[in-house]
Order: sequence, then structure tokens, then C-alpha cells
Amino acid sequence: MNTIAKPPVANALDVAREHARQRYRRDDAPEPAAWNETLQVLLGHRSVRAFLPDSLASGTIETLVAAAQSAPSSSNLQIWSVVAVEDPARKARLAALAGHQQHILEAPLFLVWLVDFDRLTRLSDVDGVASEALDFTETFLLGAVDTALAAQNATVALESLGLGAVYIGGIRNRPKEVAAELNLPPGVFALFGHAIGHPDPERPAAVKPRLPQSAVLFREQYAWTDAQQSAAYSYDSRIRAFQREQGMVEKDWTIQARERTRGPSSMAGRHVLREVLNDLGFELR
Ligand SMILES: Cc1cc2nc3c(=O)[nH]c(=O)nc-3n(C[C@H](O)[C@H](O)[C@H](O)COP(=O)(O)O)c2cc1C
Repeated sequence: MNTIAKPPVANALDVAREHARQRYRRDDAPEPAAWNETLQVLLGHRSVRAFLPDSLASGTIETLVAAAQSAPSSSNLQIWSVVAVEDPARKARLAALAGHQQHILEAPLFLVWLVDFDRLTRLSDVDGVASEALDFTETFLLGAVDTALAAQNATVALESLGLGAVYIGGIRNRPKEVAAELNLPPGVFALFGHAIGHPDPERPAAVKPRLPQSAVLFREQYAWTDAQQSAAYSYDSRIRAFQREQGMVEKDWTIQARERTRGPSSMAGRHVLREVLNDLGFELR
């Protein structure tokens, strides 16, 4: 008779439960109905802002780009490109433009994800065909969606390899200077940066809890009720506990969110983005 214990199925469930509990910081977090390595990477995500100086294994950039290109693409237009920046001096200049974010300097690789209308414009120009659809807001939105889906595929891929990353929206603080630094032609926009490297185990990042599902999941129709309202407020104590553990200043999420959405002064200069996009060659009709 085989007395060896069966593979630890219960352990997988425990791992699943623990990941869900950490994601929401709630003992009543919904239990994952199934579990595998992909879900473990996804639910274990945390932005990494402290990197070892070690460079990345050769072929890493190409692997991440293959993962990115495997994302779905609206009408298969593949309307994005990416610039891989490894030169420390260029990273330093980009870090300065993105609000002096130290983690960009620390990361051995800084990717800049681009909404790229230039490639399609050139292809149309070759045959003298119009590319007027590129002038519409819808197409810019399409480009932003495709670029984000691609970048997030790269994030999942790099996290599955034990690497860490943080997106850098700060790259939109000074779009014209960034365009000049990266030699971007008109019709190409740096949507966000992506600092990537080996996480420093001495300065580990933790899983940041999210709003309870009752605040974000509607069934059949949208309906914001008192239950959603109190679910959102119940998140404040979870995010505060996270901040406390991380040695960060404690602040309610509801207050943070309100401050971030208050108005132009809370937008790090990005309130002028439509005009800047017009100047960079996006009509946004
Ligand atoms: C598009 C985008 C831009 C971001 N920009 C920045 C940034 O400029 N600097 C930064 O430190 N984190 C940035 N972040 C990271 C968010 O702050 C982070 O994802 C969020 O606080 C949730 O934490 P988590 O990723 O650890 O779960 C960005 C995230 C996204 C999706």
C-alpha cells in the first residue's frame, strides 16, 4: 500500500486563501475557485521601487517584448512601440523629467511604452492613402488601451521570472522634453515608463490591498448604494495598516483619492495634456 502522502492539494488552497486574504486584507476575502501559477503571480503583484544593481539576463528585453506582443490588439493594428533605455545618463535625465523618481535610476532597465501612430502614418503615406482616422480621439484611446495591455503582459511575464517593476506615469509630466530625449517623431507619445529590475530583498515590497469586491463588482447593472459607499470607506483602515507596516505616512484612501482628483493643481502639470498632445501631432477630434 502506498503510504506516501498525496500532493498537498490543501496547501494549494491555503496558498490561494492567503493570497486572497492579503490582496484584500480581509478574512472574508472571496476564496479563489481555482488556483495555479498564473493566479499566484497575478494576486501576488506588488510594485517594486527598490532594485539590486544587477543587470538583467541577456534576452530579457526580447522575452518581455514577446509577452507584450502576445497581448490582444484592437483590429490587430499593433499601434504601440517601446524604447528600452539602459544608459544610466539617459535614465537619469528621464528620471528628472518624471519627478526625480529614484527607482528609475536604480532599475537596470527603463522601458518607455509609446502610443505609436508614426508607423501607420508612414505605411499610408507610401501609397498616398489617407490616415485620417488617426486624428480622432477614439484612435488615441485605442492606442492607449493597446499599449497598456501590452505593457501589463510584460509585467506579468517579468513577475513570473522573479523580476519586479513599477510603472511610471510621471513620464507624462514633461511630455515634450521626454519626446526630445527619446527622439520621438510627431504622432508618438510616451504613455508611461516602466522601471524593471531584480527586487532588492533587503527592501521588499508588500502586497497593497485593494478595495473590497463589493465596491467594484456589480451584477447585471451598475448601482452605487450605501453598501458600496461603506465598502469603499471600509478600505481606509486596510490601506492605513499597509502604510503603517511600510513605515509610510498614514492617510485614508478616500482622502488620498479625493486629493488626487480635486483639480488641475493635483495633476503634476498634466492638466494641459490635450494641448500638448495636439502639439505632438495628435488632433484628438
Ligand atoms: C499607469 C501607472 C502609472 C504609475 N505611475 C507611477 C509613478 O510615476 N511612480 C510610482 O512610484 N508609482 C507609479 N505607479 C504605481 C502605482 O502607484 C501602484 O500600482 C499602486 O499604488 C498600487 O500598488 P501596487 O502596484 O503595489 O499594487 C503607477 C501605476 C500605473 C498603473
